[in-house]
Amino acid sequence: MSEEKKSSLGMASRAIHAGEPRDKYADSLTTPIFQTSTFTFKNSRDIREYTKDKKERFEYGRYGNPTELIAQQRLADLEGAEDCLVFSSGMMAITTTILSLVRTGDHIVITDDSYKKTLEFCKSYLKRFGVDCTIVPFGDYDALEGAITEKTRFIFSESPTNPYLNVFDLVLLKKIADKHHVMTLIDSTIATPINQRPLEFGIDLVTHSATKYLSGHNDILAGAVLGSRELIAPIRSLHKSMGGLIDAHCCYLLLRGLKTFPMRVERQNATALEVATFLESRPGVERVYYPFLKSHQNYAIAKEQMTGGGCVVTFVIKGDLEDANRFLDSLEMIYIGPSFGGTETLITHPATVSYYDYTREHRYELGIIDTLFRLAVGLEDVKDIIEDLERAFDRAKI
Ligand SMILES: Cc1ncc(COP(=O)(O)O)c(C=O)c1O
Repeated sequence: MSEEKKSSLGMASRAIHAGEPRDKYADSLTTPIFQTSTFTFKNSRDIREYTKDKKERFEYGRYGNPTELIAQQRLADLEGAEDCLVFSSGMMAITTTILSLVRTGDHIVITDDSYKKTLEFCKSYLKRFGVDCTIVPFGDYDALEGAITEKTRFIFSESPTNPYLNVFDLVLLKKIADKHHVMTLIDSTIATPINQRPLEFGIDLVTHSATKYLSGHNDILAGAVLGSRELIAPIRSLHKSMGGLIDAHCCYLLLRGLKTFPMRVERQNATALEVATFLESRPGVERVYYPFLKSHQNYAIAKEQMTGGGCVVTFVIKGDLEDANRFLDSLEMIYIGPSFGGTETLITHPATVSYYDYTREHRYELGIIDTLFRLAVGLEDVKDIIEDLERAFDRAKI
């Protein structure tokens, strides 16, 4: 089937077939893993065709690999992007993208609800190279517009954000950015291309931690950036120098995960909504944050620009740190650990895990209170997830 014909297929079919030729090495059904660091030339004519005639081919592992290329083409198709680059992690995708865009003297705007390491990179590391960064409160569009200066290169935000799952109004973001001629970058990891497609709103570049839903099995680290060919080209060039390549075997695992990605996300959307609704009904739960719950402050925007709420449900229990620890210790099936979008349901307690090194005062300023949990529903039966939570609430007397 031609790539043109494939583009008329549904998302589930494209997640299996897009971006890959039907004829594969040795008639293999699955994508071959090209586990090689280099590619050879047959003779001097072969070299000339590559260097002088610009024939497309592979040369050296850091510049590309056939398995990696298929992963890039498939992701580009799913996100509706002209081009895609995959990386060894989500952070590698974010940092390489940002570094390729900025010059000394530039300024960037980022929202305060962004992933801790992204914020750290923008606040601390970029400063060393003379790039200024203004952090604005998420959802304060006046502050966002007010922060833009003549030197502003781009606005970066996640949507939805972590852990409160706030949703950025992408129409408004694009309007503000266009008015001031600045670029827009969205980390769409929590949404996935199934639930949200920022490029269709005119956003310039989209990043993903493919460690999460895209690979989906909690077994690899990977990242991606997607956008127009023109915008991806300078990032590709820097990527070849930075060397944050993903290896071929990891690409294979990413491609394998992608085959079930649409089904997994649909199931996780449904399970998470049911779990969020259960949590809201539980007297020991003070507050639940899920974008597809009517009680979420961004419910209207979420319904407008997303087709599902995703797998992450954030909630606050009544009580204190001791209650929170008792609750965690009472879980039997749900694993305690960071990450989301994978097969296993995971719960994390940001106050004692990702923000353990912050003072309590600083944590509270960021909304990371002692009784806050982030649940990432997996693919288990919804009844088992709810039963495990219910049992833990009962045992912990919450
Ligand atoms: C929203 C978001 N973006 C980026 C990252 C970084 O991705 P990775 O862990 O694959 O480097 C994370 C990691 O948790 C994340 O949650």
